[in-house]
Formats: sequence, structure tokens, C-alpha cells
Amino acid sequence: MSYRNLKVVVRDGVAVVTIDRPQKLNALNVETLGELDAAATELAADSAVRGVVLTGSGEKAFVAGADIGELGSLTAPLGREFSRRGQRVFDHIEQLGKPVAAAINGFALGGGCELALACHVRVAAETAKLGTPEVKLGILCGYGGTQRLPRLVGRGRALEMLLSGEPIDAQEALRIGLVNRVVSADKVVSEAEALVQKMAANAPIALRLTLEAVSAGLDGPLAQGLEHEATLFGLLCTTEDMVEGTRAFAEKRPARFQGK
Ligand code: COA
Repeated sequence: MSYRNLKVVVRDGVAVVTIDRPQKLNALNVETLGELDAAATELAADSAVRGVVLTGSGEKAFVAGADIGELGSLTAPLGREFSRRGQRVFDHIEQLGKPVAAAINGFALGGGCELALACHVRVAAETAKLGTPEVKLGILCGYGGTQRLPRLVGRGRALEMLLSGEPIDAQEALRIGLVNRVVSADKVVSEAEALVQKMAANAPIALRLTLEAVSAGLDGPLAQGLEHEATLFGLLCTTEDMVEGTRAFAEKRPARFQGK
């Protein structure tokens, strides 16, 4: 499939998706959001793709937020639907069933920060700036930020960002656990690719069910999460990859996983 605002390149089983509106600092207009949704569907279904890296075009921005030009005319019902739509797309990315890394190459503000939060891991350029400036516009984070940010960095740190609207730099993001690692700007995509590559070498169904166990578990009581974990563990015991993984260990050779 071809997109107007996305570039998709697959290298060694990892799809690098570049949001490509550099003249607007890759702001997410309705069209781009729709394309991200379509790309998530396409990449989830493509068995040759075992992981995804999301990044932004140019050196300045990952994504500078939702497109502010589309906000002005929103009414209460339209605003609610605007938020729900973005949430659905980001949920879709989070539930892709394969590892997704954000390569944060510059500003990740508002919806851009929320998009990074919906990814499973985040690699930031040392020049990156992350923040949730929505309150400066008289709105709040509507693409999941009020929910995912406190789950990731804790309530106090999240509220400092959400209520001040001030961005933080990459080192501070690393310190509070908002990003997994910080690298020089020229290496941010390759480092994210390498990280996803390492994950994607593991058994695909085990990866998918691990993502499911963590996502579902964080939203509910521990006992329920443990119950779910055990069920998924049982399911994995029925896979050919489990037989292959344990056999390869015994035979002291790398496993050849088929995703079955
Ligand atoms: N929506 C729409 N357009 C955006 C945008 C956004 N979220 N962020 C940047 N742009 C556009 C600017 O309007 C400008 O377009 P123009 O050249 O047609 O005027 C272009 O991108 C470059 O941005 P500019 O502001 O000139 O760059 P800068 O280096 O001076 O500042 C930022 C960079 C990121 C600090 C600044 O663009 C900004 O604050 N953006 C909005 C961030 C935000 O509030 N995001 C949350 C939205 S809900």
C-alpha cells in the first residue's frame, strides 16, 4: 500500500515507518492518523514483518502533536470523537502484536508524545524534547496521554508534565523512565531497529502473548493478571515454536522459529 504522509521501508523483517510531513513538523492531521491506522493493519497482517520502528521525517521532529489547524472548529461531540479516534489508532498500534519502538528524533509533543507512549519501547535522540503542551492550548492530552503517561512514569512525574505543559529533554526522559535509551541523533533509527531486531529474533507467538499479558495485566488486579498469564503460558505450550525453542537449547544451536 502507498501512503501520502508515511514512508514504509522493510529491512530484515523490521518495518521502519516514517511520518513524513516535515513542513508541519510531522503533525498528525486526520489523514496521517488514518494512514497510521491502515499501516498498523497492514503490518500486523504481514508475516514477513516481525517488528516496527516509528519515526519522524527530518531532523527536527518526531511528531509535534495533533495538527492544531484542525482543532479550532471542534464542538463537544466532534471533540470527543476526535479524541476517541486518535485513541483507537494508538490502541491499534499498541495492540499490533509485534514489538513496536519509537525512534524519537526530535520534538515529541502532545499527540507525538502520546504516540511514543503507545509504542512498546522508546529510543530518543539526545536532542529530543518530549512534552504534553495541550494545557497551553486550553485542551488536555486526548490521545491517551493522561492514562499512559502516569502508568509509565508515575502519577507525580506525569502530572508535572501534564499540568506544566513544559517539555523535558532526553536525559530527563531517561531518568524518569519515559524513554528506554538515549543515543546520538544520527543513530536513533538504527538503534531502535537493532533493538526491535533483537526482540523479533524470538518466537513470534511468545512475543505477541507477552505483549498481551503485560497490557491486559496492567489494567486489572494482580490475581486476574496471573490467571491470564498462566492461560497464555498453557497456550504457548501447544506451539511448534516451544518445541523448537526447547530442542534448540538442548542441541546447543540457535532456534529456528516459524511463528506456529
Ligand atoms: N500542528 C500544526 N502545525 C504545526 C504543529 C502542530 N502541532 N507544530 C508545528 N507546526 C507547524 C508550524 O505552524 C509551522 O508551520 P508554518 O511554517 O506553516 O507556520 C511549522 O510547523 C514549523 O513550526 P515552527 O513553530 O515554525 O517551528 P519552531 O522551531 O519555531 O517551533 C515547536 C517548534 C515544536 C516548539 C512549535 O512548532 C510548537 O510549539 N508546536 C506545537 C506543539 C504543540 O502544542 N503540540 C500539541 C498539539 S495538540
